[in-house]
Amino acid sequence: MGSKCLVWAFGTLLLLAATADAQLSTTFYNSRCRNLTAKVDEIIRRTIRRDRTLAPALLRLHFHDCFVRGCDASVLLNSPRGGQGEKEAIGNKDSLRGFQVIDDVKNQIEAMCPGVVSCADILALSARDSMRAFGGITWSVPLGRRDGIVTSAAEANRDLPPPFANFNTLSTLFNGKGLSDKDMVILSGAHTVGFARCASMQTRLYSFSAANPTDPTIDPTFAAQLKRQCPQGDNTTLILNDQTKPSDTWDFNYYSNVLRSKSLFGSDDAMKRNAAARKIVLTQNKPGSPFSAEFANAMEKMGRIGVLTGRTGQIRKICTQTN
Ligand code: HEM
Repeated sequence: MGSKCLVWAFGTLLLLAATADAQLSTTFYNSRCRNLTAKVDEIIRRTIRRDRTLAPALLRLHFHDCFVRGCDASVLLNSPRGGQGEKEAIGNKDSLRGFQVIDDVKNQIEAMCPGVVSCADILALSARDSMRAFGGITWSVPLGRRDGIVTSAAEANRDLPPPFANFNTLSTLFNGKGLSDKDMVILSGAHTVGFARCASMQTRLYSFSAANPTDPTIDPTFAAQLKRQCPQGDNTTLILNDQTKPSDTWDFNYYSNVLRSKSLFGSDDAMKRNAAARKIVLTQNKPGSPFSAEFANAMEKMGRIGVLTGRTGQIRKICTQTN
């Protein structure tokens, strides 16, 4: 073989290795930590039996991780200087929950397979397993993510969607992460479960604008109901995202809430303010709708945002700090 040929063959090999590295795979840990997925599932199932509300919390934690620097567990890092990590960002502070669950799972997995499984993969698996235990939804979680070493409140404030965002702002943020408008409408359906703090509704209910203290796009009866649940100045009470049912279950109610102007956030209402998005909302809002199947696909896609693989990043020993 000539030297040119050798260089070509070597280059191709390198390229193949890099591509293989960059791909996540559901069998990634089969040889590295054989019982990983069964163990995570077991711990999470026990956790959700104790406290069901942790399932939506973990789903949101995974979303907020993926939107800032990719799904690299950067949201779990304590900021070395304090006050400047993702945990302190506007959309996260006093709001994100479930950190202790991830620490618990990580400790037990480290005891089983030391230094092998990333916090990013543990978070992705825990989000899926918790919602599966919650009931009604599951999705595939390809593995092989590695952990980042940087956490930034400024980047989180830039990249996380705020609840008052309009359709175009939301679309720009999601498209910027490689997700389509359809992915955005489908993933927003997660607001059919979980809780919000009254803090997140204060502006919409009491100081929307000079002319309209209450956002005029909210159904007036619903606005009155929300005001009873969230009096002015109440920043701490938790209320259900989906107000149509007494207990929290996975369903397509989110979309009927959006259509009837009975959703909590302006960002939810925005999903019907764009013609194409509205069509997607209408398609989800019927019995036998494709919502759960499309949500599963969109979650798998979200879980691939900006992942670190191969030799990039690290496998953190403790999820709250870099090695
Ligand atoms: C479209 C842009 C989005 C905005 C503006 C938004 C905003 C919010 C806000 C403000 C809350 C309440 C937080 C609080 O008051 O403490 C919340 C809760 C929640 N969000 Fe979103 N969200 C969006 C998209 C998503 C997506 C894509 C997912 C998941 C795939 C998601 C899952 C959740 C869940 C499960 C909760 C309840 C959390 C819990 O019970 O602890 N959200 N969201």
